[in-house]
Amino acid sequence: MNKITFSSDKIGPTYKDFIETAKLAESYFKTKQNKTQIETSRKNSLWAYKKIPNSLNIIRNDRKIIGFVWIIPCSKSLMNKFLRKKISEAKLFKKLQEQKIDEDNFESLYLCSSFIIPEYRRKGLATKAAIKTIRKLTQKRKIKPILFSWPYSKEGKLTILKAKNTINIKLR
Ligand SMILES: CC(C)(COP(=O)(O)OP(=O)(O)OC[C@H]1O[C@@H](n2cnc3c(N)ncnc32)[C@H](O)[C@@H]1OP(=O)(O)O)[C@@H](O)C(=O)NCCC(=O)NCCS
Repeated sequence: MNKITFSSDKIGPTYKDFIETAKLAESYFKTKQNKTQIETSRKNSLWAYKKIPNSLNIIRNDRKIIGFVWIIPCSKSLMNKFLRKKISEAKLFKKLQEQKIDEDNFESLYLCSSFIIPEYRRKGLATKAAIKTIRKLTQKRKIKPILFSWPYSKEGKLTILKAKNTINIKLR
């Protein structure tokens, strides 16, 4: 590995970073074929860039993007609806925008997506990125948010558990 960096350690990601990450996510998660997942559209990337810039943590090796973690600020009520399967992930994201939930007023954090390109896996990068993102999002807030997720894979679930144990955050 050359020089691994996390965008959370610098000034937040650019709009171009959001677009590139959305493309990377699309190539793996195929959200266009699954309408229950958040759509990787330019409109959604622009909203996230403007309203929740610190939600995205981009991992680079020198200049190359090798992965990311995306943790979205949320409310407790939308979290509960989502966990009870009353609303889809796509609907959750739409409601967040309508209800103007952002980095200043959230009560819970949704670990929405994480991806590391295969040759960089099992080096602790996703765990490290998740911890850094949670710390960055919570540093200005007095509350202890609840972390929740919709684990896509066994590795995803294990990574969340590892991050949770390190940072001591309540997990739903
Ligand atoms: C899930 C993913 C992001 C994990 O990234 P990573 O940087 O390799 O994760 P970490 O190295 O931080 O692993 C954290 C812990 O999770 C567990 N883990 C991760 N991958 C694992 C695997 N393939 N098999 C068994 N345990 C695994 C381990 O306990 C690991 O800790 P350890 O290495 O100290 O034992 C990566 O595997 C990936 O991109 N997968 C495809 C996309 C995906 O499924 N994303 C998650 C859903 S949103």
